[in-house]
Amino acid sequence: MAFRTIIEPFRIKSIETIKTTTPEERRKAIAAAGYNVFLLPAADVLIDLLTDSGTGAMSSAQWGALLQGDESYAGSRSFYRFRDAVKDLTGFQHIIPTHQGRAAERILFHTILGRGDVVPNNNHFDTTRANIEVEGAEARDLVIAEGRVPSLLHPFKGNIDLAALEESLVKDGDRIPVVMVTVTNNSGGGQPVSLENLRGVRALCDRFMKPFFLDACRFAENAYFIKLREKGQAHRTPKEIAQEMFSLADGCTMSAKKDGLANIGGFLAMNDDAWAEEARNLLILTEGFPTYGGLAGYDLEAIARGLEEVVEEPYLHYRIRSIEYLAEKLESGGVPMIRPPGGHAVYLDARALLPHIPPLQYPGIALVNALYEVAGVRGVEIGTVMFGLHPDGSEHPGPMDLVRLAFPRRVYTQSHVDYVAEAVLEVARNAAALPGYRITEAPRALRHFTARFQPLGS
Ligand code: F0G
Repeated sequence: MAFRTIIEPFRIKSIETIKTTTPEERRKAIAAAGYNVFLLPAADVLIDLLTDSGTGAMSSAQWGALLQGDESYAGSRSFYRFRDAVKDLTGFQHIIPTHQGRAAERILFHTILGRGDVVPNNNHFDTTRANIEVEGAEARDLVIAEGRVPSLLHPFKGNIDLAALEESLVKDGDRIPVVMVTVTNNSGGGQPVSLENLRGVRALCDRFMKPFFLDACRFAENAYFIKLREKGQAHRTPKEIAQEMFSLADGCTMSAKKDGLANIGGFLAMNDDAWAEEARNLLILTEGFPTYGGLAGYDLEAIARGLEEVVEEPYLHYRIRSIEYLAEKLESGGVPMIRPPGGHAVYLDARALLPHIPPLQYPGIALVNALYEVAGVRGVEIGTVMFGLHPDGSEHPGPMDLVRLAFPRRVYTQSHVDYVAEAVLEVARNAAALPGYRITEAPRALRHFTARFQPLGS
């Protein structure tokens, strides 16, 4: 007999109590936070789906590995353990540790970009975009058309539009120092990219003699989707598929806070000797010596072990299935969202759920705040607040107005997911009554982290 219930493939050894608050306490807390959930004390959150980044639970093997950390400044044993784990997976020549993903981005882009350059990608994540724009370059999003429409079904909605990439390479080739693809495509809904698409990018990069880098934060989830959905891949292990993904690229940026199963860390990896030398010089200036790059020896141990655990199939099965399970519950209640669900999160379509709130009154913020007030669940807006402010200071609707419910890895159980489903359905029933918002203060870049809001009509 086949069992339907997907159990968590682990048992719990240590727990952390979470605090229930009353709706009245939450209304006060969110007002004090300027209606921006980034400014809430985490202790006032019951279920925290703000991000899957750095929020995962480490295994007992990882905690054990921490004690093996070699804290030597140079040439630490933990660095070699880390380097070998990354090399085994990626095959890249140069492995440069950084304190997290954006540090790898900053070092790569500062090393290779000049003013007026263009970086194509399926969709840039916010820090990736910001690190490109700060160099005076353009971050160009070229995801396939299906990837821009939340309700359209497609197995690889994260694919880059190869025709559009070719057009960019023909027209702007001399201004393109690198082509990137983000796996999975976080800003586009955590959607996977197929091996076929990555091979297409490789072929174009060969033709135009351009290096190809992966933003590899969620490479294992992407590999598992390939196993499930791409023809001829079902018999392979997620690790073998991941190794092929990396073999098609010339380098990668990585946040180990996601599929490194660690609470901090990242790396920049590549084959090009000259770029690697420049990157290491900048690393020494801003992160640290090349054998630790802003990390403790014990962090390097935790990441090395995490990279081995993350490609285990029972884990990936549970991971992908939990997100799908939530999506199924919400879909049966008619809640609009990006379909199919992504690997690390469900992305609610706030623009469709709240048609009475125009994008410039931030429907994503309205939905995020309602989820917090009603149930103590913290999600995050990925929409007009995050992407609507352009470098010239003008404001436009973002490509979509989404609310991401991102699941920390190995942290929440099925009953937590059931509770979240109830919360979203409750908020959706009363959606017509939710107000829009206006911004009362905001910085000029990455405003979503610290902006303050006021509900309209209050
Ligand atoms: N690239 C992608 C696709 C990401 O999702 C992130 C982080 C980064 C790069 C930067 O990595 O945080 O280690 O500096 N995403 C987190 C999120 C913050 O919530 O999606 P980092």
